[in-house]
Amino acid sequence: MFKDIRFKNKHFKSYGRKYQGLKHGGNVGEAAKTYGQPEAGWLDLSTGISPWMYPIPDIPQQLWRTLPYQNEHFWRVIAEYYQVTPEIITAVAGSQGAIRQMPYLLEPESVAIPAIGYKEHQYSWERAGHRVCLYQSWGELENLLDQGEVTHCVVINPNNPSAEYVDNTVIEAIYRSVSGYLIIDEAFMDVDERCSFIPYLPKSMVANNRLIILRSVGKFFGLAGIRLGFALGCGELIESLRAAVYPWAVNSPALYIAECALSDVAWQQKQRLRIRDQESQLLTLLTSKLPRSCHIVSAGLFVSIFGPSDTLMPIYQQAVRHAILLREDRLLDQCMWLRVGLPGEQYNRLANFIEAL
Ligand SMILES: Cc1ncc(COP(=O)(O)O)c(C=O)c1O
Repeated sequence: MFKDIRFKNKHFKSYGRKYQGLKHGGNVGEAAKTYGQPEAGWLDLSTGISPWMYPIPDIPQQLWRTLPYQNEHFWRVIAEYYQVTPEIITAVAGSQGAIRQMPYLLEPESVAIPAIGYKEHQYSWERAGHRVCLYQSWGELENLLDQGEVTHCVVINPNNPSAEYVDNTVIEAIYRSVSGYLIIDEAFMDVDERCSFIPYLPKSMVANNRLIILRSVGKFFGLAGIRLGFALGCGELIESLRAAVYPWAVNSPALYIAECALSDVAWQQKQRLRIRDQESQLLTLLTSKLPRSCHIVSAGLFVSIFGPSDTLMPIYQQAVRHAILLREDRLLDQCMWLRVGLPGEQYNRLANFIEAL
C-alpha cells in the first residue's frame, strides 16, 4: 500500500512544476482586480473563517529565532483540546498540508470522495495518481464499498459547502466497510463537537490503524493565516506523513499561538455562543428574503445557499457591486451554490444588503 520514497520524489517534482491550483474563497486581491474595485473596504464573506479571531498574544522573542521543536506542554494542551493522547497528534501546516501530502504517500489505488465538498481532496488524490470515485449520497458510498470499488474513503464532516453533519453511526458503518484508510475532514467541527469521530480513535499507537481525522486551527479560531492544523491518528500513513513533514513544517509562533488559543476555554465558550447567535440571525434573515426555490443550510461558520443560477448569480453580482465578496460555484442543471460567511461586527452592512434584495 505504501510508496517507495523514489516515487514520492518524482511526484512532488512534477506537482511543483505543473501546479495550476483550484479556485478558493478569501482572495480579495483577485476580486478587486476582476471587478475593478479598490482592495480596501471589501467585506469578505467568501470563506468559513471566523470573523472573530483569537487575539494574538505577545510572542516571546526567542520563538522567532529557535527551531520549532514542540515541547511537552504544547502536546498536553493540544491533546486536552482534542481529548486524545499526545502521541497520536501530528502538526501540519493547515489541514490542507495533510490533504495535499497524504495521497502521495500511498500507492495509487481507488478512493471515494464526496461529489460536493472541499475540492482539494479530489484534486490531491487525482494528482497523486489515484482513481477517484465521487459519491453523491451515503447510499452511493455504501454501494461503492459493498462492491469493493474503492480502497480508501474521504468523508467531510461537516461538509463544506453542503453543511451536512454526518452521524457517528453512519461513519462507523463506513469505517467497518473500508479496506484501506478512512480520512475524516473535521475542519469545521469545533463549533459543535457532537458529531466528531475523535472518540473512535485509538488511545495509543496501533501500527495498522486506518482512521485519520483532520482538524484545522484556521476556521473556528479565525487563524487561517498561521497555517496550522492537526492530523489525528496512528498507523503507517501517519508515520509516513510525519516523515514527510517533520521536523519543522510548522513555525514556532504558530505553535505558540495555538497553545494559547486551544487552552483558552473561556474564549472558546464565548466564541461558540457568538457564532451560534450570528448563524441563526443570518439564517432567519436569508430565509425570509430568498425565494423558496433556494435551499439554505448552515454549518456554524458559514451559510450555503443552493438554488437556480438565475436567482443566485444576480445576488452574487449585486453583492460584488457593494464590495461584498461571496463564494459562488456552479452545479449541474442550471444550479449553483453561494457561500455566505459570518460577517461578525459588520453584520448590519450585510443585513442592509440582504434586506434590499
Ligand atoms: C472542508 C475543508 N477542509 C480543510 C480545509 C483546509 O483548511 P486549513 O488548511 O486552513 O486547515 C478547508 C479550507 O477551506 C476546508 O473547507
